[in-house]
Amino acid sequence: MSQFAYRSGELCCEGVPLRRLADTTGTPTYVYSAATLRDSYAAYERAFREVPHVICYALKANGSLAVVSTLARLGAGADIVSGGELFLALRAGVPPGKIIFSGVGKTREEMREALKAGILQFNVESASELAALDEVARAMGTRAPVALRVNPDVDPQTHPYIATGLRTSKFGVPIAEALQLYERAAGMDGLRITGAQMHIGSQLTKAAPFADAVARLGALVKSLRERSVEMQSVDVGGGLGIVYDAETPPSPAEYAATLLPVLRELGLTVLLEPGRSLVGEAGVLLSRVLYRKTTGAKQFVVVDAAMNDLIRPSLYQAYHAIRPVSEARMAGPTETVDVVGPVCESGDFLARERTMPRVEENDLVAVMSAGAYAFAMASNYNARPRPAEVLVDGDRYTIVRRRETFEDLVAGETVP
Ligand code: LLP
Repeated sequence: MSQFAYRSGELCCEGVPLRRLADTTGTPTYVYSAATLRDSYAAYERAFREVPHVICYALKANGSLAVVSTLARLGAGADIVSGGELFLALRAGVPPGKIIFSGVGKTREEMREALKAGILQFNVESASELAALDEVARAMGTRAPVALRVNPDVDPQTHPYIATGLRTSKFGVPIAEALQLYERAAGMDGLRITGAQMHIGSQLTKAAPFADAVARLGALVKSLRERSVEMQSVDVGGGLGIVYDAETPPSPAEYAATLLPVLRELGLTVLLEPGRSLVGEAGVLLSRVLYRKTTGAKQFVVVDAAMNDLIRPSLYQAYHAIRPVSEARMAGPTETVDVVGPVCESGDFLARERTMPRVEENDLVAVMSAGAYAFAMASNYNARPRPAEVLVDGDRYTIVRRRETFEDLVAGETVP
């Protein structure tokens, strides 16, 4: 059940009307539901309960401390891709022993920081990176726990910008070269092989690509065993899709049912790196209509949120449903509009050619499924302070990040 529903004529997040949040916090504001975070996490836990597992939340989806610490309190680990995300994960209370470090371009400094912290695993993406990690770890007199990210070369059937498991992508080590690289890693004094990893893309709405990929990963782990390369865990990455429009992605239970036949047989600890599917449907971007505008050819609704606040529509042609906060509008006339922001770019839109209930100036609207890759990708373009963030829990709410001020915009600058 969605925690964003109409009650007494108003769209609410759990027990709190969005209108009240707009009145107290202003707009644009990101609003998150703690209950949704807990439910999504619990669904993963239930789905994988029969195998030893660690759910390492992919922090890049939403690195706000309140969100990360909500998940950390439930037992989540973290999948990080930078020194900055290591800092956030630790600050939010994620135990270092549950942190996985992913990414194609880890710096030596980042490797040192992560080794010092004592993280669970580095997911290494190339021979060069393997050599660098070995060197850094030896210099520190330790062994770095490593998995190779292998590229299983399957088509995830998603947007090309977020497909990562194809041969043409920059990610991972081609599966055909993995055996050799593992054997090399096994001989390095600064490394300790802990596992194998894959991640084939994001917003996957079908189970088949996961099934293909895990079968290939499973076959690799078995060949490694035959060559006496042993490991403790297998990391299946993230990528499970959510509902933005009319998608029907597998549930965590269906996703688990796809993977478990292979995973059970391997008998290893399963690491998961879900991002979007833990937080995406837990958030909305609350915005106010500034103007209505007709240009002969088109009807525009100008709102106070823009591409700097939510770049997914502009960058990926992503669809986000937009709902009026007042339920009365739902019963009124519909129209086909472009919903655009104040940024000076034609590419600044939240929806294009969208048929939706007619909204009027000063109305509030909620851009749905905006918990993942939303605030996390926000910028200050056009010198726009980034939005506030609010976490709702039942009938209570907390402003978990204040709206940026103009002073924040120049903090750190010097005029010589
Ligand atoms: N693990 C690795 C190694 C990843 O690269 C990613 C996402 C994840 C896990 C988490 O994937 P998820 O469960 O969230 O699908 N900004 C884009 C999505 C980029 C995803 C990048 N990697 C968007 O807004 O759609």
